[in-house]
Amino acid sequence: MGLGPNFLWGGATAANQSEGGYNLGNRGLATVDLLPMGNDRAGVMAGKIKMLEFDDQHFYPAQVAIDMYHQYIDDIKLFAEMGFKTYRMSISWTRIFPNGDEEKPNEEGLTFYENIFRELRKHNIEPLVTLAHFDVPVTLIKKYGSWRNRKMVGFFENYCRTVFNHFRGLVKYWLTFNEVNMILHAPFLGAGLCFEPDENEEQVKYQAMHHQLMASAVATKIAHEVDPENRIGCMLAGGNNYPYSCRPEDYARAVEKDRENYLFIDIQARGAYPNYALKKFERENIHIVMQEGDQELLKHHTVDFISFSYYSSRVVATDPSVAHETAGNIFKSIKNPYLKSSEWGWQIDPLGLRSALNILYDRYQKPLFIVENGLGAVDTPDENGYVEDDYRIEYLREHIKAFKAAVEEDGVELMGYTTWGCIDLVSATKGEMSKRYGFIYVDRDDEGNGTLKRSKKKSFYWYQKVIQSNGEDLE
Ligand code: BG6
Repeated sequence: MGLGPNFLWGGATAANQSEGGYNLGNRGLATVDLLPMGNDRAGVMAGKIKMLEFDDQHFYPAQVAIDMYHQYIDDIKLFAEMGFKTYRMSISWTRIFPNGDEEKPNEEGLTFYENIFRELRKHNIEPLVTLAHFDVPVTLIKKYGSWRNRKMVGFFENYCRTVFNHFRGLVKYWLTFNEVNMILHAPFLGAGLCFEPDENEEQVKYQAMHHQLMASAVATKIAHEVDPENRIGCMLAGGNNYPYSCRPEDYARAVEKDRENYLFIDIQARGAYPNYALKKFERENIHIVMQEGDQELLKHHTVDFISFSYYSSRVVATDPSVAHETAGNIFKSIKNPYLKSSEWGWQIDPLGLRSALNILYDRYQKPLFIVENGLGAVDTPDENGYVEDDYRIEYLREHIKAFKAAVEEDGVELMGYTTWGCIDLVSATKGEMSKRYGFIYVDRDDEGNGTLKRSKKKSFYWYQKVIQSNGEDLE
């Protein structure tokens, strides 16, 4: 029993939330650079406020983020000290293709990531690389309208072919689109979509979804051609919907809401649009334009494993009088009276992780990988930057117990676990630094002040012990 000797323990970050250096090394501008701090952030992420250039009225936290661009060697050293077996990170598309539509890549960008991968390998850390973590080159939005345009599949293909070839032998585990279902909830964040006032948004979103799913299948095909050792995963923003009551209508709504998410993985893991989706499109007058050969491609190039993020479960109700909404990773949810919430209103539900693992495994029968999980909390460091973060340890401990039970008692196949924001970084939904997830504290505040100095929290030593004992010692 136990998790097995090859279980991949580690942590996760994304380029835009950690690197900074947005204009260094010939990098081009990307969507995520333009997400401002403050009230307009949500509107920009939703594609309702068009922000394709910086302005003087806003602060843009991703410009510097936590400056990993300059500090990655020391950061990786700290990951190694914790005993990481893997490190999930993303490649910033615009470091490799600054505009997105060039034929030849930017050599400086390739060298930058090559150095990171070599550094990781030096410490025996296996890179797990997301190809698109919420980033689209801004030029591709201005010139082509981003993922609503079929041309994007070709641009993405060129990018993927370049990195698969260049990093052959250095990277084996890849994820295509981070939280691929995010496009329905935050379309600018998920796919660089800005809407015109008279546009049919649902039609645009589902067409763009089809293009991303095609791009994902093409990437999977090329990855396997370039190196049969490559393993490609899809990535879902996970967490199931509970019915608020046992009213059959509530249950039916929960099933329907879950399908909104499964739709993506049904296609990426099983290789075809499910009937429930085709019926929905028919009912709602959504017409997805496909090219000849699309269905064949989807069918023959399914993913090798299924990765997902898990922070909380959600609740749906059909009776509007019970609707007390709470926050939860952009997805709306009714407040669950049986659960506690984080300071940001995300409901804490470790058992929901065990259920999610079982449901995904039952449905797809492919290996799973938890690539994001964690507690965003306010930390109060002492004068040396040390944080006594028992609340974080508690959250992680309970979630680790839950996935261990899924593996050991239910027989779920789980490849690994990477906690989100293993080093403090910029929050995706809020742009804040004060929403911290890390084992490593970074001295920077929401306004961009601070020395960027790194220091180890109590959870750093705790996670080190967890990894060392392969999840046996959780105290
Ligand atoms: C996921 C994203 O949605 O949740 C991450 O993949 C994000 O990029 C994480 O940071 C946590 O969300 P937040 O808003 O707390 O940063």
